[in-house]
Amino acid sequence: MRPLETREIVVASHNEGKVAEINDLIGPFGFHAKSAKELNLAEPEETGTTFEENAGIKALAAARATGLPALSDDSGLCVDALDGAPGVYTADWAEKPEGGRDFAMAMRKVEEKLVEAGATMREKRGARFVSVLCLAWPDGHAEFFRGEVEGTLVWPPRGSQGFGYDPVFMPDGHDRTFGEMPATEKHGWEAGRGDLGLSHRARAFALFARHKLGAE
Ligand code: IMP
Repeated sequence: MRPLETREIVVASHNEGKVAEINDLIGPFGFHAKSAKELNLAEPEETGTTFEENAGIKALAAARATGLPALSDDSGLCVDALDGAPGVYTADWAEKPEGGRDFAMAMRKVEEKLVEAGATMREKRGARFVSVLCLAWPDGHAEFFRGEVEGTLVWPPRGSQGFGYDPVFMPDGHDRTFGEMPATEKHGWEAGRGDLGLSHRARAFALFARHKLGAE
């Protein structure tokens, strides 16, 4: 792995929420994240078929455009009974024909497909959230950090916290969905929890922080 020599990195995302989350994580280590939007970078098309490919496309494009190391995140929901779908197409399943995203519709779509597949019993409703972070340099060198969390899909959706598919995802070992948990609990950052975190993104970040920022 290559050491991170600059304190300034670009976050290859136009999503201000993601950039804020990344700044919260790297700030205490003396790093600062600039967003792709702040730098007016174009958003590349995510043409990959794996989370790693798409994370790589985003991070490499931002690193080459700015000359700085760039960090990207690609994530999604993989449902066992649907052979891993929606996977890299998780955001696409929420696209409305008239534009914009509707996650209530996307969760309903997943549920309809689970019913079609005969997956109505809890043991057939396994799923995982995946988050892959890519740190890429302008010369094309890239490193990846993958976090996953296993769980079960419930129906109907429960809770109004979090975002996206959180209200139908109940992580293993818990009896509430991510939609019913405050962010600190979803990410596993409250006092007393293990250092790896709970959510897929927290787990990927923990690996990144450990390997690149010198976290314990
Ligand atoms: P991305 O921005 O291309 O990585 O899209 C990821 C998709 O997966 C988004 O549509 C999110 O709604 C969904 N997703 C990723 N992480 C989470 C999560 O922590 N909770 C709920 N949905 C998520």
